[in-house]
Amino acid sequence: MNILSIETSCDETSVALLTDTALTHLTASQIDVHRITGGIVPEVAAREHVQVITPLVEEVITQSGLTQKDIDRIAVTSGPGLITSLMVGVETARTLGFTWNIPVFPINHIEGHIAANFLENDDIEFPAVALVVSGGHTELLYVPEPGTYELIGATRDDAAGECFDKCARILGLQYPGGPEISREAKAGNAQAYDFPRPMIDSKNYDFSFSGLKTAVLYFHRDNPNAPLVDVCASAEAAIAEVLVFKTKRAVKEYKAKSLLVGGGVAANQLLRTKLAELDASLYIPEPEYCTDNAAMIAAACKFHDEPNAELFDFKADPNWELTPR
Ligand SMILES: Nc1ncnc2c1ncn2[C@@H]1O[C@H](COP(=O)(O)OP(=O)(O)OP(=O)(O)O)[C@@H](O)[C@H]1O
Ligand SMILES: [Mg+2]
Repeated sequence: MNILSIETSCDETSVALLTDTALTHLTASQIDVHRITGGIVPEVAAREHVQVITPLVEEVITQSGLTQKDIDRIAVTSGPGLITSLMVGVETARTLGFTWNIPVFPINHIEGHIAANFLENDDIEFPAVALVVSGGHTELLYVPEPGTYELIGATRDDAAGECFDKCARILGLQYPGGPEISREAKAGNAQAYDFPRPMIDSKNYDFSFSGLKTAVLYFHRDNPNAPLVDVCASAEAAIAEVLVFKTKRAVKEYKAKSLLVGGGVAANQLLRTKLAELDASLYIPEPEYCTDNAAMIAAACKFHDEPNAELFDFKADPNWELTPR
């Protein structure tokens, strides 16, 4: 099956063509534009998507060596995400599907982050637990079989990636903050400062990161000369410890054979190392497929066997929750 996929939920314009034997994948990042404002302005993001989406589709098809006639399905992220950004991808996909007479599949972005693990693995055992840690989401899901999800925990305020980004901003580091904090942390002492581990002792699988961000804010205000590397290492350790503790408990309680990690924060080296000490098979995509990419949307499309009844008649849904089906 040959799947053309489009991902524009946030600030990356990404297009992929996944066949049974090859993947062609191109992503245009807007990071340099959003660095100027220290975060994403939705209208600016949409305008950037509009400028590059059609050339990217053409370039991916050319590089794949296929033609439009070889494409069996079009898959597009239709939520959750920024409505202005999502609409560009959804309308492009629907237009292409309509004019080329190819079915279009609306794909959930969170399902995509989980499905990224299937790009390089075809022997994943179930049941599984999934940890999605990104700029907008921190979720633990029970996955009894491919394509079926039960949300068992989520953040009550900031997502883990958002916490990295906000801490970085407080500390005068660039956007996106996760990679910056992580780079500084390599030279620091993670035990230097005892930042809170919010909700680590709660019986549920929920998370909360806004208090940790506030603790970093007050610490930095009161100790402006504390070594940056130590502050970064201590903050990174606090975020990673909560994520790892709750995830390991979920893997145990749900008797999961596999842990599927996804989302931009999954690129974090400390998190990857700490999660490795586990009684289940650990799957984390290569960093390129942790952050937003269209390849993962094509991989998720494979879970949907039935032709989609909606065909072209669906809309971008910025709040689409991944629910059991
Ligand atoms: N090495 C890293 N360590 C920690 N965080 C990281 C690292 N690399 C990227 N991130 C974080 O990952 C986030 C981006 O991930 P991703 O692209 O999946 O999020 P998003 O698409 O903006 O949000 P969502 O998927 O929830 O819509 C940012 O918050 C960024 O700081
Ligand atoms: Mg994402």
